[in-house]
Formats: sequence, C-alpha cells, structure tokens
Amino acid sequence: MTQDELKTMVGQAALAYVVPGEIVGVGTGSTVNKFIDALAALKDRIPGAVSSSEASTLRLRAAGIQVYDANEVGELAVYIDGADEIDGRGCMIKGGGAALTREKIVAAQSRRFVCIADASKQVEVLGRFPVPVEVIPMATAHLTRQFAAMGGTARVRLRDGQALVTDNGQHILDVTGLALKDPWAFESEVNQWPGVVTVGVFARQKAAVCLLGTSEGVRTLTY
Ligand code: 5RP
Repeated sequence: MTQDELKTMVGQAALAYVVPGEIVGVGTGSTVNKFIDALAALKDRIPGAVSSSEASTLRLRAAGIQVYDANEVGELAVYIDGADEIDGRGCMIKGGGAALTREKIVAAQSRRFVCIADASKQVEVLGRFPVPVEVIPMATAHLTRQFAAMGGTARVRLRDGQALVTDNGQHILDVTGLALKDPWAFESEVNQWPGVVTVGVFARQKAAVCLLGTSEGVRTLTY
C-alpha cells in the first residue's frame, strides 16, 4: 500500500469518531485532507466544523461543510488531526504544515484528540522530525541561541526563499538535534520563552486515540 492509500484509509476510519449532531474540530495536512474528503459524505449529519488553518477552511467549504469560528462554539466532542511523529504515550510533534498554533487551540477546546497517521509517524522517542516552533519574528535570533544552549539547531522555515509567514503572521523555527524523552517538560519550558507563540510538541494536548494506517489495516491505539 502507498502512503497515500494509508492516509485515505485512516481518513475514512476517523468518520467513526465523528459525533452526529456535534461540531467537529478539524486539523491540517495531507492526512486530514483525506478525512475532510470523507467527511463530505456526513455533512448533513453534523452542524459543521471548527478549522485549524486557512487551508482546511477552504477545503471544508469546498466540500459543503460549514466552518465556525472557534469563539462561536463551546467545547467540541472530538478533534481529528494528523501528526509528524507520535510516541507510545500519544505525545506528538506537529506543525509540519505550519498550523500548530491553531491546531493546539482547537485541540485544547476538544474533549478527545483522535490522531490519524500512517505507520511511518510512530516513534519511540520524539525528535527525529524537526520540532516546529511558531515565533514572533523579532525573537528569532535570541531563540536560536536558546535552542543551541540545549543542544538543538534552529532554522527559520523558508518558502520560496523567504521566511514562511503563518496564518497568524508569524515565523516558524524548525529545531533539529533534540531527543524529547520528557515532552511535557520540554513543552512547558519552551512555551515560557519570550517570543515563542507555540511549540509544536503536543504533550498536554496529546492524542487519546491514534488510528494508525498499516499495510495490515487500521490499528487503533488508545492512550
Ligand atoms: C500541520 C500538522 C500536520 O498534522 C502534520 O504535519 C502531518 O501532516 P501530514 O498528514 O501531511 O503528514 O501538524 O501543521
């Protein structure tokens, strides 16, 4: 099975977690795009979605699904999103699509995080994938030195040769060289550094369930 087929499989499997009559929280990325495509079939059974990015909002609307502002709605029953890495406790690295801040907000607003991922995303220790950190641009050089002091190498993410600008008007630092044995401690510490908007470690907003796409089918992991 190709990676694309695995993503389609878990995108469809996630429909089982959508609660009829309830607004669903929707993440960002190529796996979530498969979920949105599948969700179109259920659009008459849900009031709509809260989206974590401009890209997902466009795709949801194109599928005929109403998109609500996060401030218009209360707690959500479920948030469905992908991950760049997920460990055995359901902690994740996210932000490969630069949507980490809104993803964390919608995840925090939701009772249950259902992660959809192909098997390549499962790791023992987080950190092989560069940790995305959304930052205020004026703090970039200082934060780069802070990460160097903990053994990491931070680089500003580029798009078309320029610093990528997120949906929130900020920049992304991608940090390599870190092995996150204690993702909770890392998330707490980095979150407090001035200039950090959001760190792409989801230990506090970790997954409750992961639907993992494997060549043998969908494995359901609970944490
Ligand atoms: C976007 C994310 C994505 O969920 C993550 O990058 C996984 O993406 P994909 O499903 O395309 O592999 O965190 O900010």
